Amino acid sequence: MPLKITVIGTGYLGATHAAAMAELGFEVLGLDIVPEKIEMLSRGEVPLYEPGLEELLRKHVAGLPGSSGRLRFTTSWEEAGAFGDVHFVCVNTPQKHGEYACDMSYVDSAFESLAPHLTRPTLVVGKSTVPVGSAARLAKRLAELAPAGEEAELAWNPEFLREGFAVQDTLHPDRLVVGVASERAESLLREVYATPLAEGSPWVVMDYPTAELVKTAANSFLATKISFINAMAEICEAADGDVVKLAEAIGHDERIGKKFLRAGVGFGGGCLPKDLRAFMARAGELGADQALTFLREIDSINMRRRGHMVELAREAVGGGFLGKRVAVLGATFKPDSDDVRDSPALNVAGQIHLQGGQVTVYDPKGMENARRVFPTLGYAPTALDAARGADVVLHLTEWREFRELDPATLGEVAAHRRILDGRNALDPELWRKAGWTYRALGRPRA
Ligand code: UDX
Repeated sequence: MPLKITVIGTGYLGATHAAAMAELGFEVLGLDIVPEKIEMLSRGEVPLYEPGLEELLRKHVAGLPGSSGRLRFTTSWEEAGAFGDVHFVCVNTPQKHGEYACDMSYVDSAFESLAPHLTRPTLVVGKSTVPVGSAARLAKRLAELAPAGEEAELAWNPEFLREGFAVQDTLHPDRLVVGVASERAESLLREVYATPLAEGSPWVVMDYPTAELVKTAANSFLATKISFINAMAEICEAADGDVVKLAEAIGHDERIGKKFLRAGVGFGGGCLPKDLRAFMARAGELGADQALTFLREIDSINMRRRGHMVELAREAVGGGFLGKRVAVLGATFKPDSDDVRDSPALNVAGQIHLQGGQVTVYDPKGMENARRVFPTLGYAPTALDAARGADVVLHLTEWREFRELDPATLGEVAAHRRILDGRNALDPELWRKAGWTYRALGRPRA
């Protein structure tokens, strides 16, 4: 009998994981405490934009025409407890209000709600990004609360999926990391991941604390790489160098690698910024804060990019935003996502608006979310409409659609042909040829 799997929490991580588990052939029950989400998912609709996710969901949600019927959703903890051989906990761990530390309340309450319904041997698998030490604490709590006692076991299995590639990353992970306390837990997880393992995904087994740390270490490293190149961009600007060329050249060194060396307005999103901060907070609690003080610098280099972009825009429009029209292309924190959490693009748009600029934003997928967070900004239905009458155009999220814009057409509607490329993703030659003043972070003005 194939394993039955529950997935607790149906946000980005959970919805993708649930659909992927059904794709791998398991019977899956997804649980969320928000009934509206469950209703949507049960109709085969995803409450967020992620390429390929809705198709995968529709392929498996029970009751939809032609589906495998392997995926269902519920709000009942009792049903989830009775159903699952393996329970994946995929709830979010946001930054605490007014603190660096991570808010564990969703994880804690998921465990408190599920455990009383675990009456037979079972494996609970944490996927959420948590402060190191949480798994040991939760394993104890599980054994205390579950009628199955110590047979309700815990494993930690961090998730490295990227928004925009969530489906691919879940079905074909570049590594599988499991923190386990027994051979039984490891062999159950091997069964769950038999397909990617057969495809060759590396399998790395470790203890709980190391598994928890792998995730925060990976995200800190990525953030460090981005802030490193952004620091180089600051130097390039001061010395008339070109950070794009610099990144290309150092990227040829295999030990450095060319990925995550795109200089620009920096990183945002629901993971990198809050994971860095939670990691620093946790190190402090452990008495090891010195080890991570450099992450504070990584964070401030990153946040400085947003301010710098605002300054370049101010300079471009002659020193002040009052009465000036600013077109902002991009609202999401990265392309191929509708996620605007801690988005550098929206942050820059907001700052300019608050300083008196008339800001008009366009984003291919993030308009609804952006409007919700920043209802006072102007929004336009197309890039061309956003640029109409603009004194300066800001390119802040590198959607393909923006790379394919025709500078001549845009130039006809803009009041001034000035573009600031906050992602170093447009072709400077193309824009300059069409009469635009093109400026980018960390590159010569020319
Ligand atoms: C990240 C991790 O990559 C993923 O492994 C983890 O599971 C969750 O956090 P994600 O938040 O989807 O994934 O975004 P990512 O692709 O890492 O990009 C993060 C931010 O960095 C974006 O705002 C992006 O625009 C920015 N970035 C990325 C750069 O500014 N320059 C780069 O070179 C790369």
